Amino acid sequence: MKERIMNELKKVKFPEHTKDIVSLGIVEDVKINENGEVTVKGSLGIEDEAISQQLRSSIIQTLEKIEGVKKVNVKIEKKNIVPRIKHIIGTTSGKGGVGKTTVSVNIALALAKSGQRVGILDTDIYGPNVPKMMGIEEEAIRLNQEEKDKMLPVEKEGIKVFSIGNLIPKGTALIWRGPLIHKTVEQFLEDVSWGDLDFLVVDFPPGTGDAQLSMAQLTKVTGGLVVTTPQDVALTDAARAVDFFKKLKIPVLGVIENMSYFICPHCGKRVDIFSHGGGKKLSIQLSLPFLGEIPIDVDIRTGSDEGKPIVVGKPDSLGAKAFMNVAKKIIEEMKTLETL
Ligand SMILES: Nc1ncnc2c1ncn2[C@@H]1O[C@H](COP(=O)(O)OP(=O)(O)OP(=O)(O)O)[C@@H](O)[C@H]1O
Ligand SMILES: [Mg+2]
Repeated sequence: MKERIMNELKKVKFPEHTKDIVSLGIVEDVKINENGEVTVKGSLGIEDEAISQQLRSSIIQTLEKIEGVKKVNVKIEKKNIVPRIKHIIGTTSGKGGVGKTTVSVNIALALAKSGQRVGILDTDIYGPNVPKMMGIEEEAIRLNQEEKDKMLPVEKEGIKVFSIGNLIPKGTALIWRGPLIHKTVEQFLEDVSWGDLDFLVVDFPPGTGDAQLSMAQLTKVTGGLVVTTPQDVALTDAARAVDFFKKLKIPVLGVIENMSYFICPHCGKRVDIFSHGGGKKLSIQLSLPFLGEIPIDVDIRTGSDEGKPIVVGKPDSLGAKAFMNVAKKIIEEMKTLETL
């Protein structure tokens, strides 16, 4: 009977999504008594009455159809698996290659330089780029003997870094599917000794997929940062990314325009390589704060390639200052959120 019930629960989808509530880890326990009364216990990382209600009624509807089931009780609790992390922020973009990882890493470092306790979590299981950008490719993850064998993040430039890239041999390609990704994201949060953090910056893989959904389900993501380039094509994609975050109930903190403009190193003249102002336009269209423009700068790329991101490698450069300004705006936004 229990197996039958579990199989039916696997048909219940997360609202507006293709993933089911069993593989997403929402269902925690199922009990049946001799009177045919079924009790389903579940947990959600987000506090959203509408979603809980929707899940409750879909579960009841699905299970009541099973022969022998007389009554269905559903208990959904909110869980926070990382109570010591104050704010979790994640970058997203509609398209790949617009600079999400570059922005995540530099914002994390800029937040740390502004006095915050910061961690960065790389959830890009297929192509983890954070270790290279942080210059920790050769580091192996060690176990923390003091904290029940949790994994220790790598510490670099004053921030804690955790990436699957430090767990698997370089160049190995993983072909994991949804449920395994969910389990992995859960471990990234629960089984890593993050300690007390003000910010955990999450670098998501390109697109709108499993890692984002798992993260939103497992914990409260304080806010999303939308990274875009100035051209129109990227903007349409960015609007889709914003929509995806909204569906996951992740508030969007604002838009960052990356590769915004170029300052000629010889003549000092500004050139708008990919046109300009698209990010600002997008933020107005979507009524979102505009968090700033990051120039296209060869030092940003070489910094990333050499494992010394510009914020720490060339702190006086225009690029580094642009990242520091964005970090300042994020901190301010958080203060406003806290006092609301
Ligand atoms: N402002 C910038 N100036 C110069 N180069 C940049 C800038 N931003 C990103 N790049 C370069 O562009 C490339 C892509 O950046 P990055 O890997 O951060 O993008 P991404 O959006 O994370 O990509 P993916 O979608 O594959 O995860 C990298 O080589 C990076 O160094
Ligand atoms: Mg990336």
